[in-house]
Amino acid sequence: MSWVDSIPMVTEKEKAVITKAIIPVAGLGTRFLPVTRTVPKALLPVLDKPLIQYAVEDAVEAGITDIAIIEDSRSVGSYFHSMPDLEEKLREGGRDDSADQMVEISDLARITSIKQIEPLGLGHAILLARNFIDDEPFVVILPDEILWGEFSATAQVLDVRDRYGGNVIAVTETSWDDVHTKGIVGGPNVEPTVIAIDQMVEKPPRDEAPSNLAIIGRYALGPDVFEHLSKLRQGAGGEIQLTDAIVDCMEHNNTYGVIVDSARYDAGVPEGMFGATLHQAATNPAMRQMIVDFAAEL
Ligand code: UTP
Repeated sequence: MSWVDSIPMVTEKEKAVITKAIIPVAGLGTRFLPVTRTVPKALLPVLDKPLIQYAVEDAVEAGITDIAIIEDSRSVGSYFHSMPDLEEKLREGGRDDSADQMVEISDLARITSIKQIEPLGLGHAILLARNFIDDEPFVVILPDEILWGEFSATAQVLDVRDRYGGNVIAVTETSWDDVHTKGIVGGPNVEPTVIAIDQMVEKPPRDEAPSNLAIIGRYALGPDVFEHLSKLRQGAGGEIQLTDAIVDCMEHNNTYGVIVDSARYDAGVPEGMFGATLHQAATNPAMRQMIVDFAAEL
């Protein structure tokens, strides 16, 4: 009998309200070269807002107040610093709306920058925030996974964590032709959109994949994941993988996958960024008309 045959109760520790998030942005961004030679991927814009702002907004909507941004030598966290000189100039020019918008950005959350000197993998980046997290449960948000919907994707993950405890991962149905390129989970459904994960495999061949549910960039995790991360050696691709630590946690923790109800764009590649840009543009009547006119011309 596996743990999924009798779902355990949520423990007192798991009932703790999660207020901290880690947003790692120190990867090389090789799928988005050449722009990422100098511009960090997290600062690439969808229209007028960078990916990092969408990620922070996703967190804040879910009740997160404190965020560690794991960055390389280029600063991403400074995007959220207050800019009094700019605000003053905007107000002097009668542009109070823009000035207010600038204040809102710097007031979104308490942001801490942590440096990852070498890109040794997502797991390594998360481990660098161990002291910041300080033995509490936390969320991880990957900003190049854009998830837009009625409710923030992080809030959807936290909702499942509140009801079931354990570690919770956002997943989405992917094409069977793509399963060999993604982290895939499997297990029985406990609700139509929640599965109790009993298998997690990185890039399985199509005929060995337990499902077509792929891991996407939102996680709610307990602090014991750090213990497992600290013991890991470099895995697939010479990197320390977060997935390996979550699999190690599965010996003692229940793990759930939630199929999030969100439009998804992989902004780690130009095509995904283009899709996200069209999505946002279509919400603005003038830009929507531009899309329609352009499509007609095509
Ligand atoms: P990705 O797998 O998307 O890697 O990392 P990447 O380096 O950004 O992009 P490619 O594959 O070379 O095109 C997922 C997230 O983890 C961060 C990335 O910045 C991204 O937000 N990451 C990855 C780190 O912070 N440090 C690492 O060592 C690796």
